[in-house]
Amino acid sequence: MSVWAVLAAAGRGERLGTERPKAFAALRGRPLLAESLERLEASGWVESIVVVAPPGWEEPVILLAEELGCGKVVASVAGGDTRGESVRAGVGEVDDDAAVILVHDAARPLVSDEVLERVITPLSQGWDGAVPGLPVVDTVKRVAADGAIVETLARGELKAVQTPQGFVASVLREAVGGDAAAAPDCASLVEARGGRVLVVDGDPRLLKVTTAEDLALVESWLAGDSA
Ligand code: CTP
Ligand code: MG
Repeated sequence: MSVWAVLAAAGRGERLGTERPKAFAALRGRPLLAESLERLEASGWVESIVVVAPPGWEEPVILLAEELGCGKVVASVAGGDTRGESVRAGVGEVDDDAAVILVHDAARPLVSDEVLERVITPLSQGWDGAVPGLPVVDTVKRVAADGAIVETLARGELKAVQTPQGFVASVLREAVGGDAAAAPDCASLVEARGGRVLVVDGDPRLLKVTTAEDLALVESWLAGDSA
């Protein structure tokens, strides 16, 4: 089974507030992107990698991949204005004979082989997609613009979903071929077309780096690992 990974790294990182795009913000002295890139490269599940780069950063991405010895990286393409558009650009570089496409946020550096296995395995069991999810610990309410609570959601049914998200390649291609620009994630596009997407166990360490505090937290986890 041929598994391709699309690494979405084209965001600006406005909430992180660094001068460079978030994918090139420093994590333990290396570009943030290096961590997920190296992990996908090392995974026996992944055959080829497409990186979606911040516009103008396609070449630095290739140089980084070479420096890290990431021979699975076959393309670096410029992303779009939204994550959906970036993913569409990345999926466009995936070979026609790929069976599975994984989509992963470079902003989640700590991708593991265990979670890759969890999102890939269901795809040979009749599922169109599989995504990691964590239980929601707080009570979640739908709130109107004026602050009034409209509804309290049943917490037992809620999951906070992460990446890597895995899909049958043909299903994802069709899903991103439509109006993908505003999609919150890839699974939502597949769901909207009636696809069956399974939520598997996520990983708290797949935290998405959004703020400087998140970056510091991921750094402390990595420091703990190597201590
Ligand atoms: N992403 C992308 N193309 C975009 C926007 C986001 O490839 N136009 C990617 C980011 O690089 C990131 C992932 O999607 O890996 C999740 O996005 P987010 O955490 O929001 O990152 P940014 O958009 O870079 O951050 P911010 O929203 O703070 O600007
Ligand atoms: Mg964003």
